[in-house]
Amino acid sequence: MEIKIKLKPSSALDQFDFDQFQFGKAATDHMLVADYADGAWQSAEIRGFESLSLSPLSMCLHYGQTVFEGLKAYRQVDGSISIFRLEGHWERMNQSLRRMAMPELPAELFIAGIKKLVEVDQDWVTDREGFSLYLRPFMIATEERLGVSISREYKFMVVASPLAAYYSAPLKVKVEKHYTRACPGGAGMAKNGGNYGASYYPAYLAQQEGYDQVMWTNSRDHEYLEESGTMNLMFIIDGILLTPPTGETVLAGLTRDSLLQVAKDMNWSCEVRPIAIKELQQAFEDGKRVEAFGVGTAAVLTPFKLIHMEGEDYFPYVEEDAKMYLLKKKLSDIRLGREVDPYGWSS
Ligand code: COI
Repeated sequence: MEIKIKLKPSSALDQFDFDQFQFGKAATDHMLVADYADGAWQSAEIRGFESLSLSPLSMCLHYGQTVFEGLKAYRQVDGSISIFRLEGHWERMNQSLRRMAMPELPAELFIAGIKKLVEVDQDWVTDREGFSLYLRPFMIATEERLGVSISREYKFMVVASPLAAYYSAPLKVKVEKHYTRACPGGAGMAKNGGNYGASYYPAYLAQQEGYDQVMWTNSRDHEYLEESGTMNLMFIIDGILLTPPTGETVLAGLTRDSLLQVAKDMNWSCEVRPIAIKELQQAFEDGKRVEAFGVGTAAVLTPFKLIHMEGEDYFPYVEEDAKMYLLKKKLSDIRLGREVDPYGWSS
């Protein structure tokens, strides 16, 4: 499918302050827009970033038929640009789209479109340490109709925004035993906007109590740890890397998958299995060294310095020699081309 390109006459890059900005408050110069109607993708164009005009009857404004992805482009040490796990994000976007009864995206739209957008806005991919260009593909239902049924029209878009650290310091998290993020048979495995909106209130309540985020537990009995905030969960207990399995209630995070692969290839012991609150508590009580962290595209690897569970505060290990930082560095070296990428993740 042909992607038309209409370049903006001038760039806003010189007005962007890389020393002081908030994630996602400003977009790069261009965006990709494609429209779906009559059972097919009709047109695709990269054009100047601008506001949308939508009818108040647009179905996405009412029933939440929306899906998004998040991925990043990096300036490599040789000056070239790589997009991390582009194909994996395409596959996951299609998985989310199927769950939300939305049309899947062909590679020539998602993969070629994102590559083209990054090429057009390449000057926004800075080589500053710790920076990347966050890419946000998303699709919304645009049919104008208040009836509750599957939309017949959609808009697929990609916007981009520079990113430094998403969380600047280790977090204090509270294990959430009432609210739930996802349940078997639900849509928790999809990157549907509503999943994120529904997590605000429990997170707000936790913040009122002085925590930064919640750690989600399973919906049936709240005895097992699943995710934290918008991140997958990992622990290193006595040197063993542990992470809950992905599935209907745990999003198949690509950062999680990459870190796990890298850890296995460094010959670390890794266990992918359900992790009970009791097991974690016991590890602390037995005096084991516990590292705990959230992983995700935006957050990369964010350590937890306090976990509140069953009425007690526990303090994971966050000192400089923690093993998790080795993992983070290894992945970062691959992403930036400081090390050969043996996995074919960079494109
Ligand atoms: C990501 O890491 O891409 C996420 O999904 C978090 C995001 C909602 C900022």
